[in-house]
Amino acid sequence: MMSLLKSIHSGKEYSLDEVRFTADDGELLDVVHDFEQVKQQYKISKEYFAKKRSQINGQPSGGVWHFKELVMPEINDDYIISKQEGNTRLYRSKKISSWLGLSAERFYLKHEGENPTGSFKDRGMTVAITIAKYLKQQAVTCASTGNTSASLAAYASEAELPGIVLIPKGSVAVGKISQALAYGTKTLVVNGDFDDCMRMIQEAQEKLSAYPLNSINPFRLEGQKTIIWEILLQLGWKVPDWFIFPGGNLGNTSAFGKALFEAYQLELIDRMPRFAVIQAEGASPFYKAYKNNFLELKKEKAETIATAIKIGAPVNYPKAVRALKWTNGIVEAVSDEEILEAKAIVDSAGIGAEPASCATVAGLKKLIGKGEIKSKDTVVGILTGNILKDPQCIVDYHFNKTTPLANAPHSIEASIDELKRFL
Ligand code: F0G
Repeated sequence: MMSLLKSIHSGKEYSLDEVRFTADDGELLDVVHDFEQVKQQYKISKEYFAKKRSQINGQPSGGVWHFKELVMPEINDDYIISKQEGNTRLYRSKKISSWLGLSAERFYLKHEGENPTGSFKDRGMTVAITIAKYLKQQAVTCASTGNTSASLAAYASEAELPGIVLIPKGSVAVGKISQALAYGTKTLVVNGDFDDCMRMIQEAQEKLSAYPLNSINPFRLEGQKTIIWEILLQLGWKVPDWFIFPGGNLGNTSAFGKALFEAYQLELIDRMPRFAVIQAEGASPFYKAYKNNFLELKKEKAETIATAIKIGAPVNYPKAVRALKWTNGIVEAVSDEEILEAKAIVDSAGIGAEPASCATVAGLKKLIGKGEIKSKDTVVGILTGNILKDPQCIVDYHFNKTTPLANAPHSIEASIDELKRFL
């Protein structure tokens, strides 16, 4: 086999065919590929991925499966459930750059909200649901602040697998709940928070054999690695100085670290960029641990307007710490007001993203202000979810006369004279 499961510190190995999410000692697992063998079979290089035209089941794939050799080299295409996820745009914006004080030539925003169900989760979901099929699982589950449930619902439908999603009562944006219901998955609203839902999912895996598609599932992270590789491909493999993105359950932080570590091993890049992970102040256990030299992770009761990252006990913490070490990374926390202001800028630039995604831009502003990120640096920010995921947040902001960038609608009579007043 070219791939196996390996515990992240003690290096215990397990077969890919085993259904497991932690080692016997409780450590998290990586999916590890034998790159020597992969390299013997494929001529992995920058040019290889630049020239390759990838197809899955007769459809052009691009995106996640463009990197199949480094994601799941041996999986038979017949198992693959794909909606051509990935292939997302890398935007430039004069408006956002000048608000930040960065050069428009050196600042990019990768919009993962342009995936099939409107968030980066689809990148992980295509791989994890493919493995669920390969492992002949009978039902799939997840705990979710919304986007994972939307993604699971769509992919479970395509895979014809029954799905159950657990979402915390009162903390999931309306666009995301709508998707879970519409795609037809069983939706359980739990009288608790995301961390309660996550704990239940882990228990359900052990006791009820329900296959979890949360980011504790290491195959999810294999798919999410491709966000980084796709950006590098779009930049002609020129490594930026910084990648900046939001952190909640810390799946992306972990996946992005692994993507860069592997790209370096494979000589696709010759230096490591730095990470800046942004949390909401009210949901910032990773930020606090970082400030404390990662001596311990203190779980907390999370509260923030950015409900996607309202998480107080991130399950991928050990992998995320490793990723920060690999990338000499930093962590910052931003207030809900800072998130909303950055969101108003990102939205009014005609790009738009959900609140958690805009923590990226709020954090960038703060780090530039502190001098940690310099105006000459090349920065790639990642927008994780679509603007339409949380319409209520937008309406609340713009109907509120006290918010600084509010753009409230005006009511007029049906006459041209009334219209004239606004031209
Ligand atoms: N941004 C968005 C839009 C998200 O939905 C999430 C996580 C994150 C950022 C944080 O990413 O967990 O990899 O650090 N959403 C999960 C969910 C938890 O259930 O949809 P992370």
